Formats: sequence, C-alpha cells, structure tokens
Amino acid sequence: MTGRQTGKDYRVNDADFLLIGSGIGGLTFALKVAEYGRVSIITKKNDEESSTNYAQGGIAAVISPDDSFRSHIDDTLSAGAGLCKPDVVETVIKEGPNCIRQLQDWGVNFTRTEKQVDHDLALGREGGHSHNRIVYSSDRTGTEVERALLDQVRKHPNIQVYPHHCALDLIVSVSSGTGKYKRCCRGAYVLDSQTGNIEAFTAKIILLATGGCGHVYLHTSNPSIATGDGIAMAYRAGAVVANLEFMQFHPTTLYHPEARSFLISEAVRGFGGILLTRSGERFMEKYHSSKELAPRDIVARAIDRELKLSGDSHVFLDLTHLRAEDVKQRFPYIYQRCNEHKIDITVEPIPVVPAAHYMCGGVKTNLQGHTSIRGLYATGEVAHTGLHGANRLASNSLLEALVLSNRAAQSAARLLEQMPTPPVNLPRWRREWQEDQEEWVLISHDRVEIQRLMWDYVGIVRSNHRLARAGRRLKFIAGEVEDFYQRARLTDEIVELRNIVQVAQLIVRAAALRKESRGLHYTTDFPEAKPDLAKDTILRRRAGLNVIPL
Ligand code: FAD
Ligand code: SIN
Repeated sequence: MTGRQTGKDYRVNDADFLLIGSGIGGLTFALKVAEYGRVSIITKKNDEESSTNYAQGGIAAVISPDDSFRSHIDDTLSAGAGLCKPDVVETVIKEGPNCIRQLQDWGVNFTRTEKQVDHDLALGREGGHSHNRIVYSSDRTGTEVERALLDQVRKHPNIQVYPHHCALDLIVSVSSGTGKYKRCCRGAYVLDSQTGNIEAFTAKIILLATGGCGHVYLHTSNPSIATGDGIAMAYRAGAVVANLEFMQFHPTTLYHPEARSFLISEAVRGFGGILLTRSGERFMEKYHSSKELAPRDIVARAIDRELKLSGDSHVFLDLTHLRAEDVKQRFPYIYQRCNEHKIDITVEPIPVVPAAHYMCGGVKTNLQGHTSIRGLYATGEVAHTGLHGANRLASNSLLEALVLSNRAAQSAARLLEQMPTPPVNLPRWRREWQEDQEEWVLISHDRVEIQRLMWDYVGIVRSNHRLARAGRRLKFIAGEVEDFYQRARLTDEIVELRNIVQVAQLIVRAAALRKESRGLHYTTDFPEAKPDLAKDTILRRRAGLNVIPL
C-alpha cells in the first residue's frame, strides 16, 4: 500500500506556549504560565501516562527542624561524585519546601503523621540521605501528584491538552547573525496517533518535558513512554546535550516474568528491608558502611557483582523480620502488586534485580530551564541542569522537576513578549509512504536488539571493548531505521524506534568519551575517578543538520 501522510488534513495549531509532555514537569510549568497566555500541552498517550504517575518513594525536601539545607546539599553533592553544580544544588534544595507547599495548595494529599509536633508531614528515608526527608503519599506518591496536577490543568480555561499526539521533531529557524543564539525554536511537527495525520504546533515558547529514556535498555522501571524522544529531538535540532553516560540503575525491581519492570521502592530499604543472596547471606556490609542505604550506584553494582559471582539470576529483598501490619500499612500498593504475583512480602523475601531507572544527563539548561536554543526550555528528567552530577540522590528528581519548572515558567513569562510571532509560512510536511508490513515486522526487531545490546554492553559495568562493539552495531541499526523511517507511514512505534537508536548512540559516545569511572559510569578499563576529568560530557550535532529552514 502507498499513500501520502498529511495532505488536506494538515493544519497549524498556534498557542503562546507549547508544552511537550504531561508529567510533573509539563503540568507544573503549564499551571504557572497559563496566566500569561494560551497553553497547548501535547502528550503521546493518555494525559496521565508518565513516569511521574508511577513514582513511589516521594519527594526529598528539608521539612523537619532536625534536618538542614546544608545536610541535604552535602548528601546531594556526595552522591553526585564531583559533577554537581553547587549553585544549582543550593537553589533547588532551598526552593524545595515552598514547592511542596505549592503542591499541597494544588490539592496533593501527602501522608501525615501525628507523632511530630513541628510539622505534620510524615517523612521517609532513602539511600544516601542522612535524614528522614522524603515527603510521600503512601507508596504511590506519583499517582497522587499527577492526579492533583491534572485536576488543576483540566479546570484551567487557558490550557488545552492534546492526548495521543506524539512530537516528531522540533521546528527551528536559524540565523546567520552574531547574537548569542543562532537557533530559535518555533514549534514542533506532531503525529496525531489516532488519525495518522501530521500537524504543526507553533508557539513563542516551547517546553520539552518528555521525561526519561529507560526503554533504551532491555530491563527498566520506566513506563513505555520513556523512549528518549526529547533528547533525540533536541539533539537533532542542534541543542547541547550533556552527561548521557550517567544512566542510573535502580537496585530493586521485581524479578518476575510478568512484572519485570515493577519497582520495589528504595523506601522499602529505608523502612528496614535488607538484601540477601539466594543462599541467605546479607552482603551490603561488604560494600558500604551504610549497607542497604548506600547510594544507588553502589547498591546496584554490589548486586551486579554478587550475581556475577554466584551465577544467580536475582537477589532477595527481605522484610520478613518487620511487623506484617506495619509493612502492609506503609506499602499497600507494593504488597498488593506482589500478592498478585503470589508473593506475600510479609512472609517471604522479594526476588529483585537492578533495572535502568533514571537518566541523569539530558538537554543542557541553565538555572531558568532555558536550553541552548532560543525559546526552547526543558524541565524534568529530559533536562540536564547540573543538580544530579554523576549520580542522582533518591527522590531528588521530582524535586528538581518542580523547582526548575517554576523557575522556567517565570523566565518564559518574561521572554514571551520578546519572542517573534510564530511563523505562518511553515514548510509543509509531505511524506509519500509505502507500507511494507513485512519490513516493519523485521525493523521492529531492531528495538529489542538495541535494548539487549545496551543492557549487555553499556549497562552497570562497561569497558572500551564493549562500548566499541555496541557503537559498531548501533551504527548499522541506525542506518536501517533511518532508511525505513524516511519511507514509512509514521506511527508512534517508528518514531520511538528512531529516537531509541539515536539516544543509544549518544549514550555510547558519551560513555566512550569518559575515560574514568565516576558515579554511575563504571568501566573496567579506567576503574578510578580522575580529578582532571571532573567535567561534563557535551555533545552537539554539527550545524545545519536536520534543521527545518524557515
Ligand atoms: P514524565 O513524568 O515521564 O512525563 C513525560 C511526558 O512526556 C509523558 O506525558 C509522555 O507521554 C510525554 N512524551 C514523551 N515523549 C513524547 C513525545 N514525543 N510527544 C509527546 N509527548 C511525549 N523520582 C523521585 O524523585 N521520587 C520517586 O519516588 C520516584 N519514583 C519513581 C518510580 C518509578 C517507577 C519511575 C519510573 C521513576 C521514579 N522517579 C522518582 C523518577 C521520576 O518519577 C521521574 O524522573 C519524573 O517523574 C519525570 O517527570 P517528567 O515530567 O520529566 O517526565
Ligand atoms: C523509589 O521509590 O525507590 C524511587 C525513588 C527515586 O527514583 O527517586
């Protein structure tokens, strides 16, 4: 079958602010800028489908009088292994408590306690934190945050949400002048997945809030939307991306054939859960004085090593020494989900393995969330602000998304009037396509091949040899995918595959450039950190490629 994608249904949607993504980053930004203009939010599945919706542990913030900004800052810097930007760390942490209050004002119900007299929020503990400072909503914090933010957004007359709209590429104009910014973002081409039409969305301000890229790897805690689209689109448009070698592996996802991506929150270890080998040995004390509450990179590497030593497929997270009623009350969702898979966590240990969880690098922004392309902001997991350095501290991600989205919104509201009117003479998106179902079936296998080779060669432990091998194979697959993309009738799956291979290549390049081990990047060829290499890995596509001229 052949055809033309677009044609008579092609239309331009214009707004003041175009937001790509409806997780905590996009929704927070939307609520703050909506008083300054019309807001369009495009999101590729249902409104609520996002990593935000699955967050369990909570949001780190200094709430307790026993805690201090200094302590949270020091814990963040220590996890970040010399790559955090101190000014960003200080700003995010100091602005955190106000953002928690703002969420409460928007209707988020956090779990409360009657025990403490100075504040009424219950505070949990997670790895790398020296105080109890995790604000949570039972063990489904993200679902509660997403619900409340979406409730506010749906009520707002200035905000229009477009579900099942998948952004393909940014629309960028290029100037030959000598100003700070050579490129200016004007909008995005978007696939309406339900009709198959391509539409153009234009705006004065564009926000990327597309979340992470866990699906570049075979095993991940992330929902299926996390295919790195924002990083890939920004890179293709010529934006600076940074530190993509720092993929964080969460130590404990459920080891079960039907629920391989289900997260067992770090808060479970904070509550007293201990890690055991299959033979029942507690092993974390061999690796770090904080044992199960060591920073995540250390726990994930320790599990990886124990599995390699024993040849086992998984380790166990044991809660059976804790009171069953306390466990059920604190983790009702984890209890229920494990029960569905015939694991009663109050009487038997939970089989667990590490999985790709969080991308610490991303599209480089300043403290206002602005990228290297004028008018283009990025917040949440897609962004690289400098908060996390070489390793993110648990529950600092939702915090970063909140603080930076607030700051980005303030900056965007100021920039709005200075931005040029969105273009009307857009180049038409015309695409002749030929449907070859058989070829798509073959190409779709590339997705699993990429994920498997990233898992095997670019995972928790890397080497020069493994990275070179992954790079060679990815180059070949990328060629095949791009060739197919140029000829195919576009669907979400093809768009995602193109982005997955793009981001996989960027991760391999960044990892190969870092000739040391630091934080989440561990290579057997350079097992130590080198003080003179404590700097960001910057990647940028050469000028002129894939930019849509206006
Ligand atoms: P997301 O919430 O992932 O939203 C991304 C949005 O972009 C989605 O709406 C998606 O559909 C849309 N999108 C993507 N690509 C496109 C495209 N091409 N076109 C249109 N729309 C697109 N962090 C913490 O701080 N504390 C926790 O307790 C915690 N627990 C976690 C538990 C799990 C299981 C996971 C996966 C992550 C957890 N994290 C946690 C990390 C945190 O949830 C995420 O980093 C954060 O929610 C990211 O928010 P975001 O707004 O950047 O992206
Ligand atoms: C978790 O609940 O373990 C996830 C916390 C996080 O990723 O910050």
